[in-house]
Formats: sequence, structure tokens, C-alpha cells
Amino acid sequence: MSATAPTSEAGAAAPTPQARVPVDLAANSYDILIGPGLIAGAGATLAERFPDRRFAVITDTTVAEHHLDALAASLTDAGLGYSTIVVTPGEGSKSFSVFESVVDGVLSARLERGDLLVALGGGVIGDLTGFVAGVVRRGMRFVQMPTTLLSQVDSSVGGKTGINTRHGKNLVGVFHQPALVIADTATLDTLDARDFRAGYAEVAKYGLIDDAEFFGWLETNWREVFSGGTARVEAIARCCRAKARVVKIDEKEAGPRALLNLGHTFGHALESITHYDAERLVHGEGVAIGMVLAHEFSVRMNLCSPDDLARMRAHLVEVGLPTRLSEIPGDIGSADDLMAAILQDKKVKRGRLTFILTRGLGASFIADDVPPEAVRAFLADKLTERVAA
Ligand code: GLY
Repeated sequence: MSATAPTSEAGAAAPTPQARVPVDLAANSYDILIGPGLIAGAGATLAERFPDRRFAVITDTTVAEHHLDALAASLTDAGLGYSTIVVTPGEGSKSFSVFESVVDGVLSARLERGDLLVALGGGVIGDLTGFVAGVVRRGMRFVQMPTTLLSQVDSSVGGKTGINTRHGKNLVGVFHQPALVIADTATLDTLDARDFRAGYAEVAKYGLIDDAEFFGWLETNWREVFSGGTARVEAIARCCRAKARVVKIDEKEAGPRALLNLGHTFGHALESITHYDAERLVHGEGVAIGMVLAHEFSVRMNLCSPDDLARMRAHLVEVGLPTRLSEIPGDIGSADDLMAAILQDKKVKRGRLTFILTRGLGASFIADDVPPEAVRAFLADKLTERVAA
């Protein structure tokens, strides 16, 4: 499970990324480097930015198969010493037991406090590695190398880290910003179509939150985002810039950062009710359906026009994302079951729920006074429609 490579003389110069997005957080500031082929040059990039440090690369078996050799070769070429820790793919690795084994691997490799962990993989690897980095030796630095669309536009940026417990997802963790994000967009070519689409839900989310112009751009350019042209890098950079702006003003989600949760309250409840079974629903699909539900609920509250709802749904349908509860296979419980999942996921303040609602395309807002009964009645109606469909 673990190997240590010898240190050799430094090699090639660091590659120039197609895009660089700074995240401005005073002492915790960092860059997001975006473009194809960055893993092959990662050793040079790390040697330049973190000279004389050692690294532990944390990844899973699937990502290792595709990308670990390229990263290992580049670290060796750059003369960097490193260990590797490989875990099982999937949400199950965000657990106390895998956390413990990764901590043990990092300590066994004798990394010092100034050394760095490298998260090579999707959201699970990033969240797990960031949490380990946040607590081992009372805080080590780490580098995110996201290899999924979802992690390149969302989870690798902003410092949310953590693991799951039997009480729910991400309930144990810390805010701990990475020291660098290297998003190699060529890794997305190895993603299966369903995972890419699911990540795209988070891309569309940035347009729906507060950027109708970006949503319109996606309606025109989504095919090139999917096929891997320059529009892909542009879309990822735009999402990262949007996220960097929000994180800069609200790093620990005391206020506006909650906007990034558009679609997630319903989406997390759907993931919970389907027992995080990826055969039935993956996170981005839950977010896609959740964003449609947030718009439908906003229409019902006379906040959003039915035309805007129709337009956002049409785009998600066009790219192949699910938008209706009837598209989730199997039993998804009753309105009360879904409400129980919502109440576990979100804080209830004085008997009222916080939701991200919208006044139209790109006009989302935080509504912190939503009566749970209104949400329950809405869900009951949606479930009736699901049965009729
Ligand atoms: N994924 C939402 C956030 O980072 O705040």
C-alpha cells in the first residue's frame, strides 16, 4: 500500500497552466492551476513552490490505475521524495477506519509538519486527505489534484474537508484550505459519461446562483465543455473564479457561502434516502434534481417565473441529467422520510429551515425562514406526481 521513492536531481521547468485562478484568503491564499497535462508536470510545479519538502500522495485504486504512474514519474524527475497511500474507491472511504489508516500511513512515512499531502482523485479523496492534513501534527499543508469535474469546480476549492458518520455525510471535519490546487483537465477524459454529466450539474449551478450570462454561455457551449475543447478549461476557470469570490468573503459559511448549496438540501436528502447507492443516484444527479426542486418550490412561492424554471430544466435535460423524482429508480420513501433527511442535513433555526431559493435565472438567495410544513406539502405533491408518471 505504501512506497517511498528515492530523491534525485531536479528536472524540467514547471508547465504553464492554461488558466490560473487565485483564491485570496490572506495567509491562507493559494492558486488554482487549470489545464490539460498538468499532472505530468506536477513534480516541477511542486518542486518550484515547495522546495525541499517531501510528499505523501493519497489516491484510490481506480485513479491510481489511470494517473499515479504519470504523477510518480514527474515527482521522481523533479527529485522529490514521496510515499503513496492507496485506498478503496467510493464514499465508503470517508470513514473513521480509512481516516485512521491514512493517518497511520502518513506518520509511518515520517512526514514532518512542513511536508505536504497530495490528494489525487475526486471529492472523496480530497475531503479525506484534507481532513487528515488538517489534524495530523496539528495541521499539515496539502495539495488538491482533482480528477473529476465535480471536484475541479467545487470540492477541491474552498477548504471544506471531512468524513461521514452513521448520522450523516460530512458531519466530522475541519475547514482547512489547500496550499495549491492543480486541476489537470485531461483527467476528465477518463471519466465515464455519467460521472462527467453529474459534475456538470455543479457547473450549471454557478450560472443559476448569480450569473445568468454564464448560464446562457453554457446553453451555447456545453457540447465543447463535454468534448474537451478550450470551452472546458474556460468553464472550469469561471466556476473556480465564482467559488473563489464567495469563499473570499465567507470562508467558513457564516453567510453567503451557503448560496453554493443551491440544490443541495433536496439533493442530500435524495442521496440519503437512496442510501448513497451510486447505482441509483450519484451526488451531481441529486444536485440536478435538487436544483429543479428548488426552482419549482420558488415558483410555488411566487418568487420565480415558470419560464425560468422551464429554461433551466430544459438545459439539464438537454445534457442528459435527471430532473424529476420519477427518474430515481426504486423506493424514495414518503414526504415525512424526505423531511427527516432534510432536517438532519440542515440546521433548523427556531423551527424554520434555511433553503437556497431563487427569484429567477441567476437570482438565487438564502431564505432562512422557510416553514417546514410548506416544504413537506410540496414534497408530498411531487411524490404524488412521481407515482402518476
Ligand atoms: N460545496 C459547497 C461549498 O464548498 O461551500
